Amino acid sequence: MDQVLIFEDPETEDFSWTEFDLKVEAAVGSDVVDGLTGAPKSLPPRYFYDDTGSLLFEQITDLPEYYPTRTEESILAAAAAEIVERTGTCEVIELGSGSARKTRVLIEAYWSVGRGDAPALRYLPVDVSGQILKDSSRELIDSFPGLQVWGLIGTYEQALANLPPRELDTRMVLFLGSTVGNLTPRETVAFLRRTASALKSGEYFLIGFDLQKDIPVLEAAYNDAQGVTAAFNLNMLTHLNWRYEGDFDVDRFAHHAFYNQTENQIEMHLVSETEQRATLGALDLTVPFVAKETIHTEISRKFTVGDMHGVFQGCGFEPMSNWTDPNSWFALALYRKR
Ligand code: AVJ
Repeated sequence: MDQVLIFEDPETEDFSWTEFDLKVEAAVGSDVVDGLTGAPKSLPPRYFYDDTGSLLFEQITDLPEYYPTRTEESILAAAAAEIVERTGTCEVIELGSGSARKTRVLIEAYWSVGRGDAPALRYLPVDVSGQILKDSSRELIDSFPGLQVWGLIGTYEQALANLPPRELDTRMVLFLGSTVGNLTPRETVAFLRRTASALKSGEYFLIGFDLQKDIPVLEAAYNDAQGVTAAFNLNMLTHLNWRYEGDFDVDRFAHHAFYNQTENQIEMHLVSETEQRATLGALDLTVPFVAKETIHTEISRKFTVGDMHGVFQGCGFEPMSNWTDPNSWFALALYRKR
């Protein structure tokens, strides 16, 4: 994979960041070509997150139906002190930091045990959206003056392969929001192994993931009354139009989300309402659709704590602690690399 570093500037701002060239990295677009020429058609969920998509996702997290974010936040608030006690001073590498809203309680917990000359953490957010990363980093620095922040604007792969030099002895990867649910079981294993290889033995991985529960609760979370999730799903086509010089007619696709009980996952699709074709000029690709044909855009897997422990153990980690909410709707688990 081409990983082009286009910007690195530790001095001119109140925090540092590294920015990777996403357009070059993704310009191949082979994942898009594969997905749209496959049967059934699909697209990788990472294409949800251009700047607009990241903002729409932030809106989703505030919806009354979307329980994961606020539930995870409450678990984190209750567990933060114990997490800090377990890991001690460390560099927190957050994959997919977004607005970093939930991370705040954790940063606060580390911050409160540190001293001015000996901070208990350094924060390394990773996100594909430069706008949201820089905004959230500035907000954090305003709240925690002197907090060391080094942002990495790019994919997880780019960031993990190009981390800045360590300033503290221990690192912890933070992967919140049940983003892991977007990965297939195979992808999860590949991702965990790759992440493990960026860590030293004894370092930490803290993950938040959504649990299996009653289907109506799950389906409502992905079919909100205000239509924000629909807009988020449809924005993927707008994003592809920009990224690959495309002409998808977004008004002729519809949002469809349901729970697949066999696979224990929510599935999101975009349904072509009519027969139509779309072209992605930069990829030399024309895609025909029959009426009602769908593009599968996302899986959002729902787990049990036991399953997650098994997966991590198979990838070189051992479970240390886990936490849940009173309904057991969501879980947080801390692992240590063997
Ligand atoms: C960010 C992947 C955890 O699966 O719930 C929200 C994305 N998709 N609504 C999820 C999402 C539709 C979200 N993750």
